[in-house]
Amino acid sequence: MRRNKNEDDITAEVLARFSATPDPRLRQVMLSLIGHLHAFVKEVELTEAEWFQAIEILTEAGKMCSDKRQEFILFSDTLGVSMVVDLLDHRKPEGATESTVFGPFHRLGAPEMPAGGNIAHRDATAVPTLVSGRVLDLEGRPVAGAVLDVWQAQTNGLYDAQDVNPDALHMRGKFTSDSEGRYLIRTVLPVNYPIPSDGPVCAMLKAAGRHPWRPAHIHFVVSADGYEPVTTHIFDRTDPYLASDAVFAVKDSLICDFVRHEAGEPQATRLGIAPPYCTTEFDFRLTPSSTAQATVMDAQRRLAALGTRA
Ligand code: BEZ
Ligand code: FE
Repeated sequence: MRRNKNEDDITAEVLARFSATPDPRLRQVMLSLIGHLHAFVKEVELTEAEWFQAIEILTEAGKMCSDKRQEFILFSDTLGVSMVVDLLDHRKPEGATESTVFGPFHRLGAPEMPAGGNIAHRDATAVPTLVSGRVLDLEGRPVAGAVLDVWQAQTNGLYDAQDVNPDALHMRGKFTSDSEGRYLIRTVLPVNYPIPSDGPVCAMLKAAGRHPWRPAHIHFVVSADGYEPVTTHIFDRTDPYLASDAVFAVKDSLICDFVRHEAGEPQATRLGIAPPYCTTEFDFRLTPSSTAQATVMDAQRRLAALGTRA
């Protein structure tokens, strides 16, 4: 008997070898992956040189990953895969805060901060900004003790880990909602910024004639016992890149008005903020959950641990 007569024989043989995978979900995923991967290679008639190039790109991406940087997440984000997964896996009931991409720049260990704490302590020149609101359940009742893990790019468009002194945490904090569900964060006006330009993802965007910009935003993971954690951003309504975000992450319900104040008001004055400054408000509405779930933070801990290996 002749073996592997043509490329379809190989596909059939590979599928057959995986067809007895004991775990049914893994079997389903592997069989589908192999089918699509082989079909793709055949459709574009992938050359050996292109295959090597793909291996080089993946190797380069792997070498760039650390506890501070995740190039594979960046690939997933810029290819739109992260948002497809988000939409499939986080179908929320009406009224719940919508989720969006986690991105590659979250770091574990953000400092716990009191209400009004300043995450932008190294940035003395940008426009001070107060972000406030409440964490609520779907009936509008306050959720006390919710943790808001917040991170944001600096005014120079870089995350702390991309800047000089990459070990120092900046523009990050963990805030806790009070008995009325209220939170208050002091930061600076978010800016739009390009995704990192030193790796294979940016090379891919350039080769495709795509721009690398993300609209101005602030990241949140909001979690509370008894509720599904939500990974999301708030976006500045005036940003020119809202309609062409490099990672497809904008949802209308997450767009906010950052209001500029030319005169002091009591809350800002109490925090020692002189005008001009901005304020924005956003309420997070969490979905109840009866079972403790694996969270994005569990995944982040595993990824960060991989990244710190020698
Ligand atoms: C971010 O917003 O930090 C981000 C998200 C996806 C890709 C690159 C950056
Ligand atoms: Fe970001």
